Amino acid sequence: MQWDDAGHALGVAEMDDTHREFLSFVSALEQASDADFPVLFEQARMHTRKHFEREYELMKSCRFPAVREHEAEHARVLADLSHLSARVQQGSLVMARAYVKGLPDWFRGHLATMDSALAACLKAHDMAQPA
Ligand SMILES: [Fe+2]
Ligand SMILES: [Fe+2]
Repeated sequence: MQWDDAGHALGVAEMDDTHREFLSFVSALEQASDADFPVLFEQARMHTRKHFEREYELMKSCRFPAVREHEAEHARVLADLSHLSARVQQGSLVMARAYVKGLPDWFRGHLATMDSALAACLKAHDMAQPA
């Protein structure tokens, strides 16, 4: 899955930058050899943790109404990644690779709902730096 401005940009520069990076991790993981996969998976997990922490800050700054739902969804994904990371460290890549395959669909859905709503909240409060 490649970044596509028309389909993915929310018009909030820092969110768009982070999402572009997220998608490059996903596509790098999809193509990674077994030797490269574990380090890349860890980097993607750390990047995702920062991505979600930053969105939490943005939610607080614009008093995002659905903060609990959005945070719960982030927490669910981070828990999945943490569980899978343990498997990967033990040398088992199968489940993590399957999970990575599902990430583009998850991203599309999350972007269209919670992240779009957050971007709208930031714009409504004049807190969005345009991309
Ligand atoms: Fe996001
Ligand atoms: Fe999000």
